[in-house]
Amino acid sequence: MATHVEGLVDEVYLPPAELARGAHCSSMEQYEQLYKQSIDEPETFWGEIAKQFYWRQPPTGAFHEFNFDASKGRIFVEWMKGAQTNMSYNCLDRHVEAGHGDQVAFYWEGNEPADSARLTYAELLQRVKRFSNALRSLGVRRSDSVALYMPMVPELLVAMLACARIGAVHSIVFGGYSSDALADRILDGHCRLVITADGVWRGNKLIKLKHITDHAVELCAARGHPVERVVVVRHLPRLHHLVPSVGDQPGGSEPYNVKTGWNSGRDMWWDDALEGVSDECEPEWVDAEHPLFMLYTSGSTGKPKGVLHTTAGYMLYVATTFKYSFDFHPEDVYWCTADIGWITGHSYVTYGPMLNRATSVMFEGTPFYPTGDRMWEVIDKYAVSKFYTAPTAIRALMRLGDETVKRHSRQSLKVLGSVGEPINPEAWLWYHRVVGDARCAVVDTFWQTETGGHVITPLPGATPTKPGSACRPFFGVQPALLDEQGEEIHGPGEGYLVFRRPWPGIMRTVFGNHERFETTYFKKFNGFYCTGDGARRDEDGYIWVTGRIDDMLNVSGHLLSTAQIESALIEHPDVSETAVVAAPHSVKGECVYCFVTTRHGVAWTEQLQKQLILKVRERIAPFAAPDYLQYAPGLPKTRSGKIMRRVLRKIAQGDRDLGDLSTLADPGVIEPLFEHRCAGA
Ligand code: PRX
Repeated sequence: MATHVEGLVDEVYLPPAELARGAHCSSMEQYEQLYKQSIDEPETFWGEIAKQFYWRQPPTGAFHEFNFDASKGRIFVEWMKGAQTNMSYNCLDRHVEAGHGDQVAFYWEGNEPADSARLTYAELLQRVKRFSNALRSLGVRRSDSVALYMPMVPELLVAMLACARIGAVHSIVFGGYSSDALADRILDGHCRLVITADGVWRGNKLIKLKHITDHAVELCAARGHPVERVVVVRHLPRLHHLVPSVGDQPGGSEPYNVKTGWNSGRDMWWDDALEGVSDECEPEWVDAEHPLFMLYTSGSTGKPKGVLHTTAGYMLYVATTFKYSFDFHPEDVYWCTADIGWITGHSYVTYGPMLNRATSVMFEGTPFYPTGDRMWEVIDKYAVSKFYTAPTAIRALMRLGDETVKRHSRQSLKVLGSVGEPINPEAWLWYHRVVGDARCAVVDTFWQTETGGHVITPLPGATPTKPGSACRPFFGVQPALLDEQGEEIHGPGEGYLVFRRPWPGIMRTVFGNHERFETTYFKKFNGFYCTGDGARRDEDGYIWVTGRIDDMLNVSGHLLSTAQIESALIEHPDVSETAVVAAPHSVKGECVYCFVTTRHGVAWTEQLQKQLILKVRERIAPFAAPDYLQYAPGLPKTRSGKIMRRVLRKIAQGDRDLGDLSTLADPGVIEPLFEHRCAGA
């Protein structure tokens, strides 16, 4: 992967003049001023922002309290405690009551270009009220958790906002996860109701969501957790099927019958759940710190963590980051390509845009179906002005050549956002020059599931950008760089990226395991939230996030833990030991490279390798499948038996500069590992 483009990377790109003129933040002076206020007087800063929302009750105590220092007791963060509000009311009723009910909230664009729909704020509100009543009649109460395993269809928006309306906690599981992964999340989140769909086409591929859910529910039952209800959206029959025949998987012989395995005491069509429900639904007024949702993210131990976000702080934060990072204005059409199953979709498909009363595109498909022109076609179709996608998509589209982009107008574009992984300067420059015709602002937004919203990002009308840098902290965010000993690095330098104090959108706990929350994020450096990323600060104070420095890998913007993949591989009876590392990949950013030691006498066959790939697909998801599996006669270990991953990462890359090997117990293991290295990695 090219990381340096001669003569261009060092250039600074000024905000487009026209954009800066009408921007919410239009100069670095203004940014500095707002930033200073957000740090010195957080109550005034966020208090002013809170005024745009509806509060049933004002806060009763301090506007903001926290403890970030594990040595001083329990870690906690609270914003506006005692205030009462409701997220769905602020996303919907507030706009409709102000007379904007007819405004389009979402243009839904299906996998097939012929499938599209539009949803106004008033329509969405009505559907949310009705589905809220359906959930209540199914026994869902305030604080209950509900699992959503759904495609990118309007019902997903309706379901999440309905949960918020009745004070239930949604736990969305990305529709690409396997049954096993879904079951783990249903169990950990104590969900008794699951909402899914019959299936979904992603490009040419049919994903049988109902069957995957059935299997997950069986796994839950076997582990002593009965799922009481499965509500199923009937999605497939309403689509235009330009893809092979209705319900058939291309290349597969079995027609997909969603009714196979239908359990009439448990399963229920979405439409049937709505039968006879009232159109009126008073929201459940909840405390500012009432949980809004949990979302699972990979943990370095291998067990996913249910990152818990609460209501008021998250609301203030996603609304404000959306407004400033994309410089949102009412005339914009905004499109974030992320799936709602990831945090980017939660914060910047649903909540951030809706709180700002944006008109957005919601996309079910992929960038490459039916052709590699799809993104640019959709941008022109809806006159998208603010576009938000991931570096992996940018790199893949870049490979198709400039012509594919240039034959579409893209005149409407103003801001181009990037998220999910470090963007290499070459991709940044292509995004800027080709996609944006060198007249749009590029915003590389750094954040995490845990942070709720952008924490380091340029502001399009204010920040001069540098390709590959996420630039400066957002309002209220105080980053610091620490060395291994926890000493702060001042000025230019490189270290652990940490944050000194909370902003309103930071996670509050790991669902059901507060101790894990404290250990994972706060025990490494007392007084700081530790991101797990490394970063460099340059002489202008710009931050360059270099990537994870723990045992996580970032494949196409999806965070995976090495331990999670290793535990799937080790389940195979022929495997005695394994170690997984990240290797660079020109499109995915990073890919999964596995070292596998087989049991004595077991041959390293193609069949075994296929079985291992299948194991990972089943246990986690197809997107976690190993890109490279290499036979390892032995693994490099320290004398105390710890696997030296640093050395394995070098071997995966074919780099013989292995650094200090003085702690290596058996130097004889190294050469055979180079001999068995996978070609092409
Ligand atoms: O390593 C960082 C990387 O993605 C991680 C967070 O992943 P996740 O919780 O799945 O959320 C992804 C979407 C917000 C981070 O720890 N990351 C995310 N955005 C960037 C990034 N790395 C560099 N630059 C970014 N803009």
